[in-house]
Amino acid sequence: MPELFVFDISDSLLGKLASYAYEEASRAYGVYKDLQGFKDTLKIVSGVLLDAEHKKDQKHGLREWLRQIQNICFDAEDVLDEFELQDKRKQVVEASGSTLVKVRHFFSSSNSLAFRSKMAHQIRDIRSRLDKVASDGTKFGLATINVDLGLDVQRRDMTYPDVDASSVIGREGDKEEIMKLLMQPHLHGDGDQSLCVIPIVGIGGLGKTTLAKLVFNDKRVDQLFQLKMWVCISDDFDIRQIIINIINSGSAPSVAFSHQENINSLGMVHLVSRLRSKISGQKFLLVLDDIWNDDRVKWIELKDLIKVGAPGSKVMVTTRSNSIASMMGTLPSYILEGLSLDNCISLFLKWAFKEGEEEKYPNLLEIGKEIVKKCRGVPLAVKTLGSSLFSKLDLNKWIFVRDSELWNLAQKKDDILPALKLSYDQLPSYLRQCFAYFSLYPKDYIFTNYEIQNLWIAHGLVHSRNGSQELEDVAREYIDELNSRSFLHDFNDFSIICEFKVHDLIHDLALYVAKEEFVVSDNHTQNISEQARHLSIVGNNSQGHVLFPKSRSVRTILFPIKGVGLDSGTILDTWISRYKYLRYLSLSDSSFETLPYSIAKLENLQALILFGSTLIPSNIACCIMWEPGVLTSFYVP
Ligand SMILES: Nc1ncnc2c1ncn2[C@@H]1O[C@H](COP(=O)(O)OP(=O)(O)O)[C@@H](O)[C@H]1O
Ligand SMILES: [Mg+2]
Repeated sequence: MPELFVFDISDSLLGKLASYAYEEASRAYGVYKDLQGFKDTLKIVSGVLLDAEHKKDQKHGLREWLRQIQNICFDAEDVLDEFELQDKRKQVVEASGSTLVKVRHFFSSSNSLAFRSKMAHQIRDIRSRLDKVASDGTKFGLATINVDLGLDVQRRDMTYPDVDASSVIGREGDKEEIMKLLMQPHLHGDGDQSLCVIPIVGIGGLGKTTLAKLVFNDKRVDQLFQLKMWVCISDDFDIRQIIINIINSGSAPSVAFSHQENINSLGMVHLVSRLRSKISGQKFLLVLDDIWNDDRVKWIELKDLIKVGAPGSKVMVTTRSNSIASMMGTLPSYILEGLSLDNCISLFLKWAFKEGEEEKYPNLLEIGKEIVKKCRGVPLAVKTLGSSLFSKLDLNKWIFVRDSELWNLAQKKDDILPALKLSYDQLPSYLRQCFAYFSLYPKDYIFTNYEIQNLWIAHGLVHSRNGSQELEDVAREYIDELNSRSFLHDFNDFSIICEFKVHDLIHDLALYVAKEEFVVSDNHTQNISEQARHLSIVGNNSQGHVLFPKSRSVRTILFPIKGVGLDSGTILDTWISRYKYLRYLSLSDSSFETLPYSIAKLENLQALILFGSTLIPSNIACCIMWEPGVLTSFYVP
C-alpha cells in the first residue's frame, strides 16, 4: 500500500490553521472556538501519528485508523479552502468598493449568516469526527513522538559529484570490457554486418547508465565512431519518438530539428528520410538507455530503420531485463555485477560524511558499514541512504535505519525499494509532501525549478522560515536539499534556473508514496478515483468526461507531456464548474482557441500555466478579476 505519511498531511494542516489569516477570519465568522478545538485535538493526534506510522503493520486496525484521520484532514482542508474563498471574495468587494447590487447582496448579512452557519456546522462535524477517532486511538497505546519540525536541514556544501569519470567508483574493469567489445571490428553474431547490439543488464540503480556514460565519454570512442548518439527511452517504446530523439541527439546538428519546426506535424516518411540522411554510411554508436520494451516486432522495425550505418556501427542498450537483452543483443549480455563491499563503503562515506570526518565517528562508521551491506552492491541505494544520513550525528538515527523493519519487507528479488523508502523516511516532513508531486510527471522528465516551485507554492507547501524570505527562494532551497540527498540527478545549475531529472527508481518511490490522491491518467485509464486531488494527464484519449471524479476535491490538473493537451473547451468548462478548489491548472499544449470567462470563477487558483498552448485569454479582464497576489503565477505562451 502506498504511504504518504498521514503525519505530513496533518502537519501541513496544522501549519495552515496556525496562520494569522485563518485566526482572523475564523473570528470574523464566529467559528473561532470550533476551529481552535479542532486544532487542539489534531495537535494531540498528530503527536502520536509518527508512532502509529511505524506500528501500522503490527497492530490490527491501525491502518484503518490512520486512513480515517487522513480523510478527516482532507475534509478539513476542503472546509478551510471554502473559508479562504469566502474571505477572499469579501476582501475583493471591500477593496473595490463595488456598488453592484448583486455583489452586495452576496455579502448581505443574511447570506453571510447562512455561510456562517454552514461553516460552523461543517467545522463542528469534522471536529466531532476527529474527537471520536482520537478517542478510538487510545486503545492502540501509541507514544507521543516529538519531531524537530523543519529544523532538520543539514545541507552539504553545494558541490555534488557529477557523473564524471572521477566520481564513479570501481567500474574501471567493466568499462574496459565494454570498450573491448566496441573496438572489435567484426562482431556480427547474427550475420547482420552493419549493426552489432551490446546489451548491459542489471537491476535498477546498479549503475548501467553510469557505465554506459563512462564508455560514451571515453576519448577512444570519439576516434572509433564518426557519430555518437544517446537516446533515453522512456516507458513507451514509441518508434516515432525514438526517431525524433535520434535525429536530435549527438553531433551533426544540420539535420536536427530547429525550434521553429513543428515536429508533431511531420509524417513518418519525412522523419525516416531525415533519420537516414543523418546516419546513412556513418559509423555510429547509438546508446538506447533503459529499454523496457519486449515487443520484438517494434524492435525489428527500429533496427531495420537504423541498419543503414557503415559496417562497425554499434548499438549499446541498457535494460533491467534479461529477456529483453537477449531479444535485442547480437552478443551475449554484459551482466553488470553489484559494486564490491569496499567500493560501496567508499561511496557511502563520500555521501554520508564531510571529507575525512568519518574518522571522528568510529561508532557511526561501524553501523554505516552494516547499513551498506544491506544495500547489496547497489550504488543508488548506498548513495541515497548515505546522503540521507549526512551530518546526522545522532547514533540512534543510524541504528534506527540499520534495524528498520523495512529491510524485512517481502520484496521482489533484488528490490532496493526498502533502501530508498528509508531514505524517504529520513526526509523532513515538508520535503516528503513535496516529493510526492514528482509522481505526476513521466519518467525521464526534465524538470525546471520554476515548474515544480510553482506547483509546491500553489499548494501552500512552501513556508518561509522567518517570514521575510521569498517563497521562490525557499522552494529553491527545497530543491537543493532534495538534490543534496540524492533524490535528483543530472542536475544542471544555471544559478537562478536549474534543470534536473529524477532517477527512474526514485520516480518509482514517488509513485509508491503518492496515494490515490495523485493520479496519472493515460490512454488506458478506465476511471479516476473519487479520492483524486492531483491529476496529471499524459494520454490524449484520457480526457473523457466520465473519467473525472465528481468530487470537488481536485486541486491540480496538469499536462506534462509535449503534444498532449486539452482540445475541448467543454471539458474545461466542466472542470471549472466542478473543481472550485483548483489551485494549479496547467493547460500547456492545449489547442482550442479561447480561455473562457468562467475561468475567473476559480477563485482559489494560484497558478495558471498556458505555455505552448494556443489559448488566448478571451478577455484579459477575466484574469484581472483575480485579486492581485492571489494568482501567483500566470504564464502565457
Ligand atoms: N560506480 C559508481 N560509483 C559512484 N556512483 C555510482 C556508481 N554507479 C552508479 N552510481 C550512482 O548510482 C545512481 C544510479 O546509477 P544509474 O547508472 O542511474 O543506475 P541504472 O542505470 O542501473 O539504474 C546514480 O546516481 C549514479 O550516479
Ligand atoms: Mg539507467
